[in-house]
This record gives sequence, C-alpha cells and structure tokens, in this order.
Amino acid sequence: MFNKICIIGIGLIGGSIARAAREKGICNNIVAFGRSKGLKNLQLAKDLGVIDDYYLEIESAVKDADCVILCTPVGAMEPIFRQLQPFWNENTLYTDAGSTKASVILAAEAVFGQVPTNFIPAHPIAGAESSGVSASRSDLFVAKRLIITPIESSAEVLVKKTAKFWGDIGSIVSIMEVEHHDAVLAATSHLPHILAFSLVDLLGKKDEKVEIFKYAAGGFKDFTRIASSDPTMWLDICMANKQELIPLIQQLKVGLGEIEQMLVDENSQQLFETFTYAKKARQRFLNQYDNAMSQIINFNIQPGGSLRGEIRVPGDKSMSHRSIMLGSLAEGVTHVKGFLNAEDALATLAAFKAMGVKIEGPVNGEVTIHGVGKHGLKEPKEPLYLGNSGTSMRLLSGLLAGQKFNAVLTGDRSLSSRPMKRVTVPLATMGAKIETEADGTAPLRITGTDQLKSIDYVMPMASAQVKSCMLLAGMYAEGETTVIEPAPTRDHTERMLNGFGYPVQRDGAKASITSAGKLTAADIDVPSDISSAAFFLVGASIAPNSDVTLSHVGINPTRTGIIDILRLMGANIDVLNERAVGGEPVADLRVRSSQLKGIDIPEELVPLAIDEFPVLFVAAACAEGKTTLTGAKELRVKECDRIQVMADGLISLGVDATPTEDGMVINGKTIDSIGGGEVDSHDDHRIAMAFSIAGLRATAPITVHDCENVNTSFPEFRDLATALGLNLT
Ligand code: S3P
Repeated sequence: MFNKICIIGIGLIGGSIARAAREKGICNNIVAFGRSKGLKNLQLAKDLGVIDDYYLEIESAVKDADCVILCTPVGAMEPIFRQLQPFWNENTLYTDAGSTKASVILAAEAVFGQVPTNFIPAHPIAGAESSGVSASRSDLFVAKRLIITPIESSAEVLVKKTAKFWGDIGSIVSIMEVEHHDAVLAATSHLPHILAFSLVDLLGKKDEKVEIFKYAAGGFKDFTRIASSDPTMWLDICMANKQELIPLIQQLKVGLGEIEQMLVDENSQQLFETFTYAKKARQRFLNQYDNAMSQIINFNIQPGGSLRGEIRVPGDKSMSHRSIMLGSLAEGVTHVKGFLNAEDALATLAAFKAMGVKIEGPVNGEVTIHGVGKHGLKEPKEPLYLGNSGTSMRLLSGLLAGQKFNAVLTGDRSLSSRPMKRVTVPLATMGAKIETEADGTAPLRITGTDQLKSIDYVMPMASAQVKSCMLLAGMYAEGETTVIEPAPTRDHTERMLNGFGYPVQRDGAKASITSAGKLTAADIDVPSDISSAAFFLVGASIAPNSDVTLSHVGINPTRTGIIDILRLMGANIDVLNERAVGGEPVADLRVRSSQLKGIDIPEELVPLAIDEFPVLFVAAACAEGKTTLTGAKELRVKECDRIQVMADGLISLGVDATPTEDGMVINGKTIDSIGGGEVDSHDDHRIAMAFSIAGLRATAPITVHDCENVNTSFPEFRDLATALGLNLT
C-alpha cells in the first residue's frame, strides 16, 4: 500500500503502528524521525526491528515517503508542522495519531494558513500504561476504534486511504466531526484520567496512605489503573482539550454534590436508584456497542446430570412491561409485586421515567409507579433506548403515536434489525406519523398527533405485540378501534387494561377499544414467567432422574402451549394448586423425567408457545422419532432467526435437524441424543439458555458463546439452573 512510511515520534503508538504495518506487509520501508535527545530511543527502535532506519533531520526522513504519520504529543504538533513545511509534498499522505483533534487542526492552520488537503487527522483509541517503543505491539490496534476527523477541505481519496490503512491493521474505523470527537473523548477518556489522577493524589497524600495502598482491593486498583499513564502525555492532552473538560468537571462536581446530599439525608432509595441506573446504563452501552469494555460471558456445560428441587423463576416479562405502561397512564399509585428485574422490562421502566413518570424500584421485585394519567406523559429529552426489547418498541410505538409530543425509539443491534412495519403500517392508516429506516427497521421517529382515527384491523400474523400496539393507539383515537387476530395470542394487555378499569370489548378473535375511558391505579402481582419456566420443563423432562417443581407460574391459556406440546410428546407434568392472582391464572408445575416421543406439533399451538421453540427443539432432539414443526415463520424474526440458528447449532452438535421455511424437522435419538461442541447465542437470550439445557443430554461438554444476553429475560438462570443440578460454569 505504501512504499515508505515515515513515523515522527517513535514511542508506544508510533512503534505499534510500525510493527503492525510491517506485519501486515503494508509497506516496504519504515523510517523514523526524532530529535537528537531521543537518539537512544531511535537506536532501540532500529535494534528491535521496529524501523529500518532513523534520521535526526527531517528532510532525509520524509524524502520519498508516501505516508508520514505524526505520533508526537499533541502539544508538539505545531513545531513539527513548521519543520515539515519546507519539504511538504503534495503527493504524500500526512496523518497523525493525536488524542485531541481541534488542537491539531489549529496547529496546522497556524503553520499553513489553512489545513493542507493531504493532512488527514486521525486518532487510534488504544494505549497502554507502559510507554516507549519497547512497549510497542503489533496488535495494539486490533479490534480497537480508530476515529478519522476529516475537515471540509480534506481530500476524499486520502480519507479513504487512511481508513483502509487502519482497517488493514485491524482497527474499527469511524468518521467523526472534529468537535464531536473532542467532546466524546473528553467524557470517555480525558475526564476518567483526571479522576484517576486526582483520586490517587488525594488518597496518596493522606496520612493513612500506607494502609490505603496496602489494602487496596480490586476496585481501587481497577479505578486508578489509568493513573499509571504517562503524565507528560496527559498534561498535554488535558491542556489541549480544556474547553471540553472544564464543563464536564463542573457537571461531575454537581453529581458528586447530589450524592453527598443523599448520604447526608440518608436517602437510600435515591442512592440506590442512582447506582442502579448507572449499572444498567453501563450494561446497555456495552450491549449496544459491543466494545472493548464489554465482558464476554460463555457458558460451559458438563454433560449429563439430573434436575431436582423446587424453584420460583422470575416474573413474567410481558406482564412486567405492561404493568409499567399502564401503571404510568393510570391515575393514582400502582404497586407491582413480582416485577421482572431484567434488562427488557427495565428498558420499559427507564423509558417511562424519561417521559416524566416517577417510578420507584424494583427492590425485591416491588415497583411503585406514580401514575400521571392518560394524557400526563412528557416529551422525552433524548431518544428512548429500548435495548433488546421488541415488546417495548412495538407497544410504545402505538402508545406514543397518539401523544402531543414527538419521540424517537432506538434499540440494540438485534432490535434494530427486526421488522417494525408490522406496526408502523397499520398505525399510519390511523393517521400516525412514524418514520423508519428504509428497510422498515428502527430507529422509529414518531411525530405525535391528537388526530388518530380508529380502524378495523385484520392482523396478517398472530402477534400479541401488534395487537397490543393497536389497542394502545386505539386509546387515543377517534371512534372504536378493532383488531382481529388470525389465531389467539397472549391477552395480557386486554386483561390488564380491564384490571385498571379501562373498557376493552372482547368477542372471539376480536378486541375493541375506544378513547372513552380512564385507568385507575391497581395493585399487580406478576406471576413467574412460563417462558423462563420452559427451560426447566424441558430440562427435567429430558434429564433422567429429574423431579422439579416450579412454583407460582402464570398459566394464562394463551401461554401454555409449552405444557400442551410437551404433554403430547409424553412429558410428565402436573399442574398443581391452580389459583387466580390479580386476574391471571397461576399454578405450581411439577415435572418429572420421561421418555419423550416425536410428534407433529399442532399449528394452533404455535402462537401459544412462540417463545419456547428454541428449548422445544432440544426436547425434540432427545425424543424418540420425528418431530415436525410447521406454521412458525414468525420464529425467523425474533431476537434472531431462531429456526436457522437453532438448526445450525443442533446440527453442529450432531443432531439430525432440517430447517424449513416455517419450522423444522428433527429426528430425535433416545441414546447419545446430542453431541458436545461449541455454539453461539447469536445475540439471543433464549438460544443461550436452550443450548445450556441441551447439555443435560449431551455426550461431551457444550460451550455456548456470548451468554451475557441472558440478562434480557432471566438474569438468575445460571444460579437457578445450577441449584437444580445443571453443571454450568
Ligand atoms: C410478546 C409477544 C410475542 C413474544 C414476545 C413477547 C408480548 O411477540 O414473542 O416475547 O409481550 O406481547 P409477537 O407478538 O411478535 O409474537
């Protein structure tokens, strides 16, 4: 790609660029320029083979170089530009690796009058505590972000060339505006460094310093790791970016002041909320950007074992979402028990908080919602980030279409690829104004209107999310909105609306609503989620010698397809202590091992077990004979394509599985049903848990990659599964 690269400033960054370029065969010749003061360092770089040669005068260094990379501290850029000016070559690409960009642009302007079109500013976001060429590594930039901040006059072809160069050495390249770059970096890098330096400075000067450092546990060590960075470099960066940093330091002082006050007032609730928000927000960012900070969690399952014991799985996800939505729109204070403290439900909770609703908790599953009434929501200041939650996005699109304010709905990688036209198209017929991406995916940009008109909508697919979306929009539309579903789907929205005193007419496949009604606060007791219980219904059925009782499980007839299907396959499930809790049927489920047999799954059961198929496929792999699923095309547009991903995973574990357009055919085996191996969760919590359960009948260990997403619906999965006997680490 280049014949000769000249690196100006051969330390950790310059040295690592040189090593990476050489390793990737990107250039023939690499030289460095430095001052005579740095002669020893230059010689070391040459001895280490990082560069081919070095020069102490710039003219020879840059002669015939087709790429010059400035890797000096940002404060030294201006004198370097001044030295380069007489030898500036129009045909050479000049770029840099400075941590602040406005200061580098200013330095170039100071020397050249205007920034040369062949200078392309760039910043690799990578570093290490150790400095100097001896610490340089060829993989320093691999999978790390590299930001290019071109200005208007930058030559497009050289921007592309710079991007290609960094892409070739393994970086993830983004383009950003200069000011944006400096603001983002001030917050994510410069401020944390100042905090680390300042904390160590403060504690180090205290009398007890010996004690502090002696007993410094993980937290102090982790938090202050970056205080070991090069002080000269950080002085330089902080000075160069002080315009961005000073306001941030002021905001931080306010935040610390608030925490101080909470402690003075012993306001543990607010303190807890602050910490909880921070923890969840951090996780959301990690999930959204999947960056270098993110923790990769793999599940390793040792083969075999039994499941035995009694557990209560966490609260129902669908009902938890709806309790927040309807509780927020109600008049009065709603108390929720059994709320699911997992990312999906918390995304809904955060969204309503962002729309001005005061919500306390969850603490031990209890949430208190101070309802604002049907017309009391406020315009959110920021886009509402809904994580992985399709239910939040689809239900909110209906609810927000009829508000007097605008809102933007965003989600993580998986949610941003899921179809939203199924809600935006019928909503548009009602007069809603919602923009999607060209392919009908999120972000959804909703322009609120008080002019919604009712429709009679015959749904093309059996979807509770679409039905609920239309009913929520119907609460704000003129006339009576009617939805007709092609097959029964979960009816929690209808039930809960009635529970809050809002009239919904139901007549077979039809549900109707008008804007005449109000919600009155109610107490909600969320039962355990049958979709989470499903993993153990299957696990205890397929693992020999198992006997599990799952207590307080919601058995709403629109959700019990899993029990019906497993029973058709010969499972031994007892439904005990049936009772009604807050308008929903609940029971304890006892399940014992049995030899399952393959069946043709009745199509009418598909919507009633729609979330349970990943683990049902595992059951089919252990059943005697053939299991056929049809009429389940919807599985292709869940958190991932659950037909393809499960088929691929099962096949790689030696199962005879054939995906079809709308289902799967599995020829199960009673002995050596599933082999060992490695599978991927594909951003889908239920895939991760289904393959973990497969370990119970595997012949060798199974590793499921990337299982952090289990937090979407069932953060306690690992603990409960191991308590019952699954050998999962
Ligand atoms: C849900 C409905 C279902 C289900 C999802 C939750 C709900 O989606 O898969 O996990 O809470 O309404 P569809 O309505 O798209 O089938």
